[in-house]
Amino acid sequence: MVVKSVTREPRAGRPGPRMVETPAGMLNAIGLQNPGVDAWVARDLPWLVARGVPTIVSIAGSAAADYGAVAARLAGRPGILAIEANVSCPNVEDRGRVFARDPAATGAAVAAAVAAATVPVFVKLTADVTDLAEVAAAAAAAGAAGVTLVNTLLGLAVDVETGRPVLGGGTGGLSGPAIRPVAVRAVAEVARALPGLPIIGAGGARSVADVVEFVMAGATAVAIGTATFTAPTTAADIVDALPGWLAARGHRRITDLRGLALR
Ligand SMILES: Cc1cc2nc3c(=O)[nH]c(=O)nc-3n(C[C@H](O)[C@H](O)[C@H](O)COP(=O)(O)O)c2cc1C
Repeated sequence: MVVKSVTREPRAGRPGPRMVETPAGMLNAIGLQNPGVDAWVARDLPWLVARGVPTIVSIAGSAAADYGAVAARLAGRPGILAIEANVSCPNVEDRGRVFARDPAATGAAVAAAVAAATVPVFVKLTADVTDLAEVAAAAAAAGAAGVTLVNTLLGLAVDVETGRPVLGGGTGGLSGPAIRPVAVRAVAEVARALPGLPIIGAGGARSVADVVEFVMAGATAVAIGTATFTAPTTAADIVDALPGWLAARGHRRITDLRGLALR
């Protein structure tokens, strides 16, 4: 389970409405609502540990040092497999520009998390950049164990009756099947540029075939987000169906298919 991003201090998030359906996807503007890392460690982590859930903790911040501070609060806690640094956040030290848009800012956030962490640190990047491989390379150079590709794409929906944005926060992140080809492309781009780097693919996956597509593009794992809103058991169903899908096609292991589309 990859949890919702956790920050140093509690965050109330954006005003509603926070979600709107779009063709083949949805826009959300949650605004990183979370109870803050201390409350999360006291309340949510024990709940996950008690149920034996292997957990990847997503962390976020508005300055590079925040990533180190949150990683330090998580250090040594049982049940945490890895940290995922969500760098799709405005960086107050760089005029509010999103970390993930800049290789140096991404590297600084990753380095801060890596220095404090006792588990591998993945970094979650956005496809809303000109040179994704450059950002991924900076993350790897700063010590990232791998990258997660991709976060939501920035979108906007306008209510044509009122002339106002539909979402209370204005813009929102586009997710779901609408972004899958973009996510698969992003995975392929980074897999080609940095062949040894583990990649968690994310973006619109909801079937075994979607997962296999990500793997063939170079992903080492695949995350399922939006699909769980309409079908909460999607990930478990895919895990159950995958061996049969592979066997029917004469494949022994999914890892044999990694990067097939890049050859
Ligand atoms: C309602 C909602 C909340 C999300 N919150 C976070 C978050 O806190 N941190 C993060 O890194 N990504 C967040 N994401 C992005 C997803 O993790 C994922 O990268 C993206 O939605 C694409 O995958 P999907 O189409 O399978 O959802 C969120 C997505 C949705 C739809």
